[in-house]
Amino acid sequence: MKIIKAKDYEDMSRKAANIISAQVILKPDCVLGLATGSTPIGAYKQLVAWYEKGDVDFAEVSTYNLDEYRGLSHDDPQSYHYFMRENFFDHINIDLNNTHVPDGSNPDAAAACSEYDKIVAAAGYPDLQLLGIGNNGHIGFNEPDDHFSKGTHCVDLTESTIQANSRLFDSIDDVPRQAYTMGTQTIMYARMILVVANGEAKAQAVHDMCYGPVTPACPASILQLHTNCVVVADEAALSLCE
Ligand code: F6R
Repeated sequence: MKIIKAKDYEDMSRKAANIISAQVILKPDCVLGLATGSTPIGAYKQLVAWYEKGDVDFAEVSTYNLDEYRGLSHDDPQSYHYFMRENFFDHINIDLNNTHVPDGSNPDAAAACSEYDKIVAAAGYPDLQLLGIGNNGHIGFNEPDDHFSKGTHCVDLTESTIQANSRLFDSIDDVPRQAYTMGTQTIMYARMILVVANGEAKAQAVHDMCYGPVTPACPASILQLHTNCVVVADEAALSLCE
């Protein structure tokens, strides 16, 4: 695991965007695994700015997002489909047919998840997988558990995740209780993993991811076993790693 310390959120975002744009420049038809949440928004903004300057071209890129709330349609403003268009896809020259997010509008969880596994496998898995990390160490929506997960599956969100995500909803009662998420094994198939984290609230999770025991109680800890994992985090998120 390589740990890169950033001064603050802007610095973290720029460094992460540099790594992603290098991947796209080196392999224009690369497969990117993408994340939602607050943390990667700055990196997406930076990539959009570089795209507008003509420095990076997404015409041949394809993307696979980690997760989606179960029960939300693609055009629901709280859905991760919507988030990706609003924060990234609608501002770059990516072909929307090459962007993929699990289908939260499909109530048949088994079908939605196995369909997603098939398309991610058919794409050959991501060249680069971008990840945020939950306060409880989750990656994607793989919550702390007694075993690591494999492929895409339906999860019950923990109270801590529902609480953390409620800031983006009108009320905590509006936060969906379930999500479809890529499994830990699928995440580990990516050829490179880039984790971004900022702020003190992430300090314990970042410490446990990098230096704690490898355990499903902290799903991100499995990244210690990945041969090409880079963590870009600000000083606050790294404060317990000194
Ligand atoms: C989002 C995702 C989640 C988030 C994590 C951190 O697609 O998979 O694991 O990365 O919950 O969220 P933020 O960045 O909002 O703190």
